[in-house]
Amino acid sequence: MVITSAEFVKGIKGTDKILYDGKLQVAFVGRSNVGKSSLINSLVNRKNLARSSSQPGKTIRLDFFLINNTLYFVDLPGYGFAKFSQGKHEDIRKMMLWYLEYSEVKRRKVVLIIDAVVGLTEFDQQMIEVLKKHAIEFIIAVNKVDKLKAGEREQQLKNIQEECKGISVIPYSAKTKEGKGSLLKEIFM
Ligand code: GTP
Ligand code: MG
Repeated sequence: MVITSAEFVKGIKGTDKILYDGKLQVAFVGRSNVGKSSLINSLVNRKNLARSSSQPGKTIRLDFFLINNTLYFVDLPGYGFAKFSQGKHEDIRKMMLWYLEYSEVKRRKVVLIIDAVVGLTEFDQQMIEVLKKHAIEFIIAVNKVDKLKAGEREQQLKNIQEECKGISVIPYSAKTKEGKGSLLKEIFM
């Protein structure tokens, strides 16, 4: 599958008609700084389509990108950033749960991004529980594998796969683009 076009459509903060226009929504979720925006940029071959920053103060919104005029990539706010205030943590949590549980979205998939260096965190485990509870199809991308030595990498991938039996776990690097073909294949499957 090749991405031939990608354009930013809008950022939403609550209900919006884009949610129920019937197109597939592929949401990218993960801890703040895990590389959601970088990973989206690497998939669509654009340096700056999704905002790549870890500014803890930025507004909480869901960014919609139209891909090949047929589906959306959705960049979600990152969870679990240590510098967020309690209030901000809570706002992000509410926003994500609202979006993931929003029943008007008929067709969705989630790419859960895990940091290869950090591994599965408690926040990631909670997210997996939510996805399972709502029977949302998801794929795991283990980003930043370029930062690990061969042995560490093997061990980390093994740990993650063990905790996530039956789920596709794809080693990825937004930096080197390793895993891009495999991830696109899973997304468009
Ligand atoms: P928030 O939107 O703040 O939650 O962050 P994010 O998850 O969108 O992360 P972002 O794409 O902004 O990347 C965070 C930092 O990690 C940046 O400095 C990126 O350059 C770096 N980064 C992202 N992906 C990779 C990767 O695959 N390898 C390496 N080495 N660095 C990466
Ligand atoms: Mg981002």
